[in-house]
Amino acid sequence: MKNILITGGAGFIGSNFVRHLLRLAPDLNLVTLDALTYAGSLENLRGLPDEARHTFVQGDICDAALVERILREHQVDTIVHFAAESHVDRSILGPAPFVQTNIVGTFTLLEAARQAWDGKFEGKRFHHVSTDEVFGSLGPGDPAFEETTPYEPRSPYSASKASSDHLVRAYFHTYGLPVTLTNCSNNYGPYQFPEKLIPLMILNALAGKPLPVYGDGKQVRDWLYVEDHCEAIRLVLERGRAGETYNVGGGNQPHNIDVVTELCVLLDELRPGPGPYAGLIIHVPDRPGHDRRYAMNIGRIQSELGWSPRHDLKRGLRATVRWYLENEAWVRAVSAQNDYQAWMDKNYTKRGAK
Ligand code: NAD
Ligand code: TYD
Repeated sequence: MKNILITGGAGFIGSNFVRHLLRLAPDLNLVTLDALTYAGSLENLRGLPDEARHTFVQGDICDAALVERILREHQVDTIVHFAAESHVDRSILGPAPFVQTNIVGTFTLLEAARQAWDGKFEGKRFHHVSTDEVFGSLGPGDPAFEETTPYEPRSPYSASKASSDHLVRAYFHTYGLPVTLTNCSNNYGPYQFPEKLIPLMILNALAGKPLPVYGDGKQVRDWLYVEDHCEAIRLVLERGRAGETYNVGGGNQPHNIDVVTELCVLLDELRPGPGPYAGLIIHVPDRPGHDRRYAMNIGRIQSELGWSPRHDLKRGLRATVRWYLENEAWVRAVSAQNDYQAWMDKNYTKRGAK
């Protein structure tokens, strides 16, 4: 591994991964390719450690000529593919970009890698970052998802990610492209765009706005602190077996309502408001087709690569709340940009939570 292309490196997990590698892998050169959609921002890449080893290119992963040029000019030997449309609610209101970026974009990258590396696959790696949502929804007593659990995606987002996973595996079996995949659970932590559950609740609470919990709030997610996720990906790049998939999860499965309540308690302690923040919680109409429960069996990555999450949920949530409190300039910049306010109106006004 010497020259790494990181797609989606200006997004939430991608930018954390760029920082992670610049800190921990001193011999690597990094190129980020990112279209800077509403979800991506150069604010996420401000103040990088050892910035000289990082190059940013603004562009679309569906642009085959651009991808081909980057692979050639930077002599890329490793691709870590984060770029995606990633928000389930947006996929319900407008699925087309999900098909384009997640399926066509992944195909474009695979095809460019196959051609650029031209059968000389020694020392090359295509790593695809995917999601637990491809496995569908668990009932309360069902066992956690394993790497071999059959796919059953239920939203346009998860269906498009499932398609991309199938393409990645097909390139391994058909062409021998050295791929690895990680399917991870819900991430949280610094630099998450504030339309996902945890940052949305923190920022709404601080603004004295309602905290909109979908349905009964008894849905379950397996929360993974983003830095733990970055470490898992780095280990898979270093020691994962080509053709293999690794599940990555946080090892906790609270109800959504408990996560929101815990955030309120943390804010009551760290930035007390006029009354307890939990008083702002409201229940709003549910997401259509809302997956009830996700849980990850992480036995494979634990036994093969020795990875386990380092942050339990309590510690991770505290670190996250602190980060959002300490980074007001970032919050102001990303909430002012792109279509953040338009999205908040579109998704929440009809739910009676504005
Ligand atoms: P994000 O939405 O924060 O960032 C996505 C990035 O991709 C943005 O910077 C955006 O500008 C860029 N992008 C989008 N379309 C592009 C295109 N056509 N060309 C180039 N760049 C484009 O997403 P995230 O939360 O950082 O997720 C990263 C990856 O991890 C995604 O593949 C997602 O499916 C997967 N994942 C995320 C989570 C989670 O909880 N966030 C959980 C499981 C899996
Ligand atoms: P989200 O952060 O959108 O991630 P995902 O849909 O990929 O799991 O949502 C996490 C959970 O929180 C999910 O069960 C939906 C729920 N949720 C709310 O209850 N209210 C909200 O305003 C949002 C954005 C999410």
